[in-house]
Amino acid sequence: MAKIDVDASLAPRLFAPRLTVLVTSLDKKGRANIITLSWAMPTSFDPPLAAISVGKRRYSHELIEGCREFVVNIPSQDILEKVQLCGSRSGRNVDKFAESGLTQLPSKKVKPPRIKECVAHLECKLVDSLSTGDHTIFIGEVVAASVDEEAFDGMEKCIKLETFKPILHLTGPYFTTSTSVRQIN
Ligand SMILES: Cc1cc2nc3c(=O)[nH]c(=O)nc-3n(C[C@H](O)[C@H](O)[C@H](O)COP(=O)(O)O)c2cc1C
Repeated sequence: MAKIDVDASLAPRLFAPRLTVLVTSLDKKGRANIITLSWAMPTSFDPPLAAISVGKRRYSHELIEGCREFVVNIPSQDILEKVQLCGSRSGRNVDKFAESGLTQLPSKKVKPPRIKECVAHLECKLVDSLSTGDHTIFIGEVVAASVDEEAFDGMEKCIKLETFKPILHLTGPYFTTSTSVRQIN
């Protein structure tokens, strides 16, 4: 098959699809904000670390630097419209919990709340950050993790795709999901 050259600025569109997450953080008065991210990944087993890449102009960038804690919440397709809302409005101008109707659920070990409607939650304490061009990679130690019972296979210790449809971001307003599992022996 022939290869076509594309502009290097399109690199994120080739790194796709990506798991989409909702990250919560707190302002100085203790008000919670939500940002939609698809630049997020685990980055160490021991200690368990999670990395998120946040644009330097985002309100959440300021909040995470200030409160030094965040929660990575993993949504499913049934709240796609709310995920899009949290990724298109800024917490500087709007209370995204009120606007989206999403529900705050107290976290176990950090101050920012979990989002009740999400399926899994990684509570993180900021341990490092790295400036990468117009974004900052915030690295959090996962100090507590929780998941909806019906979405987790306790034997295999993995997400159950029969009950959980992750939101995978392609680019802009385009999303997909994963419907099948292949086992390689
Ligand atoms: C599907 C999707 C994925 C996104 N991924 C990222 C991301 O990885 N990093 C980022 O900084 N912004 C990302 N954004 C944009 C932010 O979510 C958006 O700018 C948001 O309004 C910022 O909110 P805040 O100003 O309240 O922090 C994404 C938006 C959408 C809809």
